[in-house]
Amino acid sequence: MTELRVSVPDLGGIDEVEVIELCVASGDQVETEDAIIVLESDKATMEVPVPQAGVIESFLVAVGDRVSSGTEVAVLRVADASSNNGATNEDEAPAATEAAKVEQENEAVSESNLPADKTGTTQDVVVPDLGGIDEVEVIELSASEGDELEAEDSLIVLESDKATMEVPMPIKGQVLSFKVKVGDKVKQGDVVATVETLSSSAQSSGEDTATVSKSQTAPQQSPSASTKEASKSAPKPLADLQVSASKSGQAHAGPAVRKLARELGVDLSMVPGTGPKNRILKEDLHSFVKVKVNQSGSASVGVVGSQEDFSKYGPIQEVSLNKIKQVTAKNMVQSWTTVPQVTQFDEADITELEHYRKTAMVSMLPEGVKVSPLAFIMKACAHALKAFPNFNSSLGPDGTTLILKQFFHVGIAVDTPEGLLVPVVKDVDQKGVVNLAKESAELAKKARDKKLPLDAMSGGCFTISSLGGIGGTAFTPIVSAPQVAILGVSKAQMKPVWNGKEFEPRLMLPLNLSYDHRVIDGAEAARFARYLCELLSDTRHLLL
Ligand code: COA
Repeated sequence: MTELRVSVPDLGGIDEVEVIELCVASGDQVETEDAIIVLESDKATMEVPVPQAGVIESFLVAVGDRVSSGTEVAVLRVADASSNNGATNEDEAPAATEAAKVEQENEAVSESNLPADKTGTTQDVVVPDLGGIDEVEVIELSASEGDELEAEDSLIVLESDKATMEVPMPIKGQVLSFKVKVGDKVKQGDVVATVETLSSSAQSSGEDTATVSKSQTAPQQSPSASTKEASKSAPKPLADLQVSASKSGQAHAGPAVRKLARELGVDLSMVPGTGPKNRILKEDLHSFVKVKVNQSGSASVGVVGSQEDFSKYGPIQEVSLNKIKQVTAKNMVQSWTTVPQVTQFDEADITELEHYRKTAMVSMLPEGVKVSPLAFIMKACAHALKAFPNFNSSLGPDGTTLILKQFFHVGIAVDTPEGLLVPVVKDVDQKGVVNLAKESAELAKKARDKKLPLDAMSGGCFTISSLGGIGGTAFTPIVSAPQVAILGVSKAQMKPVWNGKEFEPRLMLPLNLSYDHRVIDGAEAARFARYLCELLSDTRHLLL
């Protein structure tokens, strides 16, 4: 057994690229030309294959590392010790030298050949040097005729069976016409588009032309240059990188789609591609995410965290999130991304209610029983849910029906050391405030003691999230889908309220009603909130 070091091939003038994927694991058996890592620049995605069959001993890089030509990325154990393989740096040297020569030529030619761009100058954009590949397919027109693009913006995307490559705008300008369409096969030097310079200022300086000439695939040529000259001046093409054919099951997608997938936390191998040769398009990714989000069950929703390495800025500590917080995160993402929600704010005058609760009521309560404003609010909600049945509903499976519930179960958000739990008080409409106070206190205690029975959190029709004991003037609670509304309660405060003649000190309770706007209209929500306020301002309604 011999150990071989697999290196990053010549990157054709690009200084550094990022490792975005390890395609296999240490210990995996690989065949000749199997891709083991995927690299990405801002213009292209490329795979690094192994030169011969063997077993991956170890990786020398991790996802997120930046690598350059020649960086050793993995150790490969191969059976035959004597073999001269194509991956060693020595063996690559001739190719690299050749590539460097071509690169030098490219730079020399491109710099001298660059047009002194002036406004209104037209030029043809041609397929760059394809590094030995005869024909490639046009798989995407990244702009439309008439579009104004910056230099380096993608113009078209080409694809061979080995790599996807973008042909960028060589200048800042306007796309006059495309000479190719999706599906066309093109060869090096073929004209793909005609573009026109928009402003002379950006391109006329030597500095900028040099930048353009370094572009990996940008074809540089004068407006009158023949296709031959143009291809000669094209910088080192992608195809010269040792890119291998995709392994079956591996994602077939361009750089932009890969980037988006990483941002969304989507595993591209799960996404069906509808583009040419089953290539994954942006639309495929969007549809995939949409379906996942709409699927029932919170477990299907991915919670995407930050990809940033914060240790660059200072010391950090990474701690695990417990199960409750992970489930809450998924539920919140699902609701936030699928439910168009609005919050209606209102204030209930609870001066009389609080006076009653703190005086007459106290003397009537059994020993040890405490009734907070929450029990009255629960009772008021039961009345309001009966008066406004849409609030006690869920959307039917295909979104064309409404399921109106004939029972009134209300979830109470409870803050526990482990995170947020929402036990459900059943049949709130059939219970008095004292019982509601007792039951919600018991459920809150069980939640905090981790003693809630499994079914205690299911079946809720509506939720109350009361932060009134803590403070704050208002907040926007998130609807607990498939419920269609949630009532946030903030801290009651004494306020001067105009009674028509004078300001009176009144105890005002802020209510924050978030609702699913697919089911409930704004006016309906305003009426529901008003109704709640009226109920709470007259204690007699709630003692029924
Ligand atoms: N305005 C003013 N005071 C209020 C109030 C309000 N809206 N709501 C409660 N209070 C008072 C109570 O009367 C009590 O005062 P007291 O001891 O003098 O009688 C005090 O605040 C504490 O009340 P609390 O223990 O919180 O009882 P509660 O019945 O109001 O609430 C829970 C019970 C379980 C809802 C509550 O403890 C809780 O966990 N709240 C957090 C919910 C949460 O995290 N929501 C966020 C989800 S997005």
